[in-house]
Amino acid sequence: MAKIESVRALEILDSRGFPTVAATVVLSDGAEGAAAVPSGASTGEHEAVELRDGDKARYFGKGVLKAVANVGGELAKAVKGLDAADQAALDAKMIAADGTPNKGRLGANAILSVSMAAARASAASAKLPLYAWIRKAYAAPAKNFVLPAPMLNVINGGKHADSGLDVQEFMIVPTEAESFSDGLRAGAEIYQVLKKKLAAMKMTTAVGDEGGFAPRLKTHTEALDVLTAAIAEAGYEGKVRLALDCAASEYYKNGKYVLEGKPLTSAEIANTYDAWATKYGIISIEDPLAEDDWDGWTALTERLGAGLNLIGDDLFVTNPVRLARGIKEKAANSILIKLNQIGTLTETVTAITNAQKAGFSTVISHRSGETEDAFIADLAVAVNGGAIKTGAPCRSERLAKYNRLLQIEAELGAKATYAKNLAFASPSGAR
Ligand code: PGA
Ligand code: ZN
Repeated sequence: MAKIESVRALEILDSRGFPTVAATVVLSDGAEGAAAVPSGASTGEHEAVELRDGDKARYFGKGVLKAVANVGGELAKAVKGLDAADQAALDAKMIAADGTPNKGRLGANAILSVSMAAARASAASAKLPLYAWIRKAYAAPAKNFVLPAPMLNVINGGKHADSGLDVQEFMIVPTEAESFSDGLRAGAEIYQVLKKKLAAMKMTTAVGDEGGFAPRLKTHTEALDVLTAAIAEAGYEGKVRLALDCAASEYYKNGKYVLEGKPLTSAEIANTYDAWATKYGIISIEDPLAEDDWDGWTALTERLGAGLNLIGDDLFVTNPVRLARGIKEKAANSILIKLNQIGTLTETVTAITNAQKAGFSTVISHRSGETEDAFIADLAVAVNGGAIKTGAPCRSERLAKYNRLLQIEAELGAKATYAKNLAFASPSGAR
């Protein structure tokens, strides 16, 4: 049995140039694991706490030296000597050491860095790839491996770009490709065609935080039109579908959804979403409504849920307790999974397992502020997550995850299949 021998952390920079936490865990058998934690911009109200120093003299208050000190101090003390292979016990010990419901004392960023690095160290100790180790650590019953469908965010709006678009993400999803690599290729080719089309429209082809373009389009339907045309021109009509992340909490003001300057009720904005989904064959909408509009979510799911994935991101914040409410109230039919919203690998896997048991689909996700760490690629395969959202096929912090999936695909060969449209309620977009 390999025990945790030492834990250390470092303040590094994420893809936006802001500080984040990286940790290294060393085991008694010499095995080592390192991991880096991502950071969101359109963060949900109910996420676990990302501990920042608040010292305005460094990084405008965004330093993470306190979190780094907590890793090397209290957290290291809590986990030293524990059996590294018992990830659930290790995570429980850190949750107890923190002692708050939202990991606000030691920081979810600090705790997660150790949780992820410990999993990597255990995988190294067991001489297993990370995806195989995570599956083993939670004794998940699935025998087959399924590579996730990539949801590539190619037009950025909301808080991730200054495009002026209210909707945060316009994604393309290769639901009919024969393999993960073919699907990724379709996405990358469409991305290049889109770039040419935007340039021809005299639009900027500079990119937003997740590598998608940030053109100053006047309306959302203009964005959907150019995407539809790019898919067709690249030769993927009927094979690649559209998906949105509205991140609607960001345009929810005084009880109304302010879309293109017009204040709408949740029932009224549902009409807009319904019209878009029908016209453009959209297969998935994430956070169409605000994070505490539970009644609106239930009504929307009843109305559109049979033919559309309605994904809760800010709504659920990867939190098994909020997910349980969503399952009970039939609010949403799918959950976005972000490790740093909840702060340990164990709670993340619990959210995934509970969602899958309830018939919800899952989408494993990056954050808008990322690092070169590709942990989520392994996680997506470990849990047969169905889909992964990790940005455009542009910028290496995004490609790190897609490229890791290419490696896993090559390594597993015939032992893995591609998820294709499995994660989607109406994959043809024909509702
Ligand atoms: P965030 O955005 O990482 O800025 O929260 C991603 C998302 O909303 O899915
Ligand atoms: Zn989101």
